Amino acid sequence: MSDPQQPDPDASPAGEFEQSLRPPDFDEFCGQAKVKERLILMVEAAKQRKDALDHVLLCGPPGLGKTTLAHILCRTFGSEIHITSGPQIEKAGDLAGILTTIQHGDFLFIDEIHRLHPAIEEYLYPAMEDYKLDIMIDQGPNARSIALNLPKFTLVGATTKAGMLTRPLLSRFGITNRLDYYSPEELVTILKRSASLLSVPIEDKGALEIGTRSRGTPRIANGLLRWVRDYAQVRANNVITKQVAHDALAMLEIDEDGLDEMDIRILNAVIYKYNGGPVGLNSIAVAVGEDEATINEVYEPFLILKGFLKRTPRGRVAMPLAYQKLGATPPESPTGDQPDLL
Ligand SMILES: Nc1ncnc2c1ncn2[C@@H]1O[C@H](COP(=O)(O)OP(=O)(O)O)[C@@H](O)[C@H]1O
Ligand SMILES: [Mg+2]
Repeated sequence: MSDPQQPDPDASPAGEFEQSLRPPDFDEFCGQAKVKERLILMVEAAKQRKDALDHVLLCGPPGLGKTTLAHILCRTFGSEIHITSGPQIEKAGDLAGILTTIQHGDFLFIDEIHRLHPAIEEYLYPAMEDYKLDIMIDQGPNARSIALNLPKFTLVGATTKAGMLTRPLLSRFGITNRLDYYSPEELVTILKRSASLLSVPIEDKGALEIGTRSRGTPRIANGLLRWVRDYAQVRANNVITKQVAHDALAMLEIDEDGLDEMDIRILNAVIYKYNGGPVGLNSIAVAVGEDEATINEVYEPFLILKGFLKRTPRGRVAMPLAYQKLGATPPESPTGDQPDLL
């Protein structure tokens, strides 16, 4: 079974680990029923027409399966995928370089597409719409534009911040596919699949223990599984039971809601430093020593979903559950009235 040529998966870095667990097709991709159904339908229609797939936009917090879906879509078409990201395309020439290597029916995956430079976006519009690229070469008096015809291709864009996409770019995608957090039960299915790929025995209750603490996110679930597997190997006869999962996660200080140290720091800052809010994102970022975008895109959505925080036009406000979590007493008026001074 084990190939001596292959590196030991235990020694592989997180990225390789993640790739090894990536579902290869729609059948193994669990959850996100609505998005999946729509994409499968689009694929079927395009295949029947023997046409390229329409451009697809995938939105949602990190770790929910955007990159995975881009690969699955491409594989269902049997096409090549070209991978890049918004920040990687610095100038028009970079985009031209990628687009000119594309063949008919290929996929171009642009991760973090909301971070594309506005000037690059302008070049992308005709490429997406008419499969044409007008680029300027040279500068000054020698400047001239050349028009290239591109083969028909499919752009798959992924973003954690659909709200930051410009209207013209949004309108060039047929439909927006928003991925939601997964239920604990869906995460159990994912965890059992991952455990079987890793050849680690896991009991249903052990998987549920990990699933409920994974912030609705498969990437986090798989990451925790990796830790629990190590724990089970060293301390518990290799089998992941409810107790083993519980003890292993207690060692990481992940609580029963899946909140980690940074979440708790954020709640602490809002409640103790800013009297429960409203407080601006930048003030929270300074208080906890994390960058604004990460708080906004990674931590906050889950804290809001779980009812610990609320976003108001004047800033973030701690909800009663947050006080309960920290064992603090909520003020009379939970919204507080202090202006944000920082
Ligand atoms: N629906 C799913 N079913 C099974 N595993 C999933 C699913 N979605 C994500 N994963 C796992 O989670 C990891 C992170 O997914 P990824 O597609 O990289 O997320 P994103 O691009 O949205 O940040 C992948 O390695 C994959 O193993
Ligand atoms: Mg990704």
